[in-house]
Amino acid sequence: MTDRIRDFLRVRRDLGQDEGPVMVLDLEVVRDNYTAFARALPDTRVFYAVKANPAPEVLRLLAEMGSCFDTASVAEIEMALAAGASPDRISFGNTIKKERDVVRALKLGIRLFAVDCEVEADKIARAAEAASVETAEIQVFCRILCDGAGADWPLSRKFGCVPEMAVDVLEHAHRAGLHAYGVSFHVGSQQANTEAWDGALASAATIFQECATRGIGLSMVNLGGGFPTKYLKAVPGVESYGDAIFRALTKHFGNQIPETIIEPGRGMVGNAGLIEAEVVLVSKKSQAEDEVRWVYLDIGKFGGLAETMDESIRYAIRTEHDADRMSPCVIAGPTCDSVDVLYEKQHYPLPVSLSIGDKVLIEGAGAYTTTYAAVAFNGFPPLRQIVI
Ligand SMILES: Cc1ncc(COP(=O)(O)O)c(C=O)c1O
Repeated sequence: MTDRIRDFLRVRRDLGQDEGPVMVLDLEVVRDNYTAFARALPDTRVFYAVKANPAPEVLRLLAEMGSCFDTASVAEIEMALAAGASPDRISFGNTIKKERDVVRALKLGIRLFAVDCEVEADKIARAAEAASVETAEIQVFCRILCDGAGADWPLSRKFGCVPEMAVDVLEHAHRAGLHAYGVSFHVGSQQANTEAWDGALASAATIFQECATRGIGLSMVNLGGGFPTKYLKAVPGVESYGDAIFRALTKHFGNQIPETIIEPGRGMVGNAGLIEAEVVLVSKKSQAEDEVRWVYLDIGKFGGLAETMDESIRYAIRTEHDADRMSPCVIAGPTCDSVDVLYEKQHYPLPVSLSIGDKVLIEGAGAYTTTYAAVAFNGFPPLRQIVI
């Protein structure tokens, strides 16, 4: 927790305004993270993955700092534009797009698009005609599959195609008049293995060579996201990722290193945010001496902590009693839905003195929380965010 967040929460409590869970996000941390990415990967353009946290303050800060933006929808494109990014700094990185949304994106000036199959490239070519845009102005990159090994939140299977198919997809795009620009992949979110980029870069280099034999000169590799934030476990620093990626680029591309971009989401905003929540109930399911305690918070899977699904993301939860004896607990959310349990398979140690009304602090909550919160499930409002 930063001093700024600590002071903010203290004042808020003194004023009696600490009702309900809230996520407080410290922009200074985002500023530091952007600087660290820019230093660790100096020849790489940063496209912040807007989906991680689209708060206007975050987008404005990053736009001012020179970041580009990876967007998943027309709404996110509009947010990035409103934050001050010019269209040439925005990519439409979702491989699943409605054709009319491609037309809208083109009309908004977007010229960089992800595809992972021929029919998606066809959509873009048709949309170009509808939007009266020259196809040659439109850069497309083809996403390849990655198994996501080593990632706590893998993004495998749903996006991308096998590398051999990517060559055909890019050739197809090229024949449709589009600018076949490069290759993208995502090694899985919260990727703890700094070497995870190596295999995908080997595939990318092969795709570059194969395309070259077909007369298509690719020039860009989109290295995706995956850069972790600190939850309970320590993670390597961004410099280690920069070094490993540079080594892999040199190994597979020799002295012909392509233009590269990264799309960090979690690594840009995760550690900037902290959720203050409250204990609503502490109970047991039987009188047995060794029965585990259930701790129910006023936030759960539907209130923004969706990434506890399968207990994938294990947040660090701090309390004012952390110096006391700990015992294992099940942690659950407040809704009347039995899937609204955060940690049960692997019990979570919490202080035995923790009781109803106590505040808990959930660290590393700046990414993938506010936008995951339900609108009004069980009447609970979506997670509030305060940017400081
Ligand atoms: C296309 C794309 N790029 C970047 C990201 C951001 O990934 P991360 O938060 O792991 O950095 C995602 C996450 O889903 C994504 O789908």
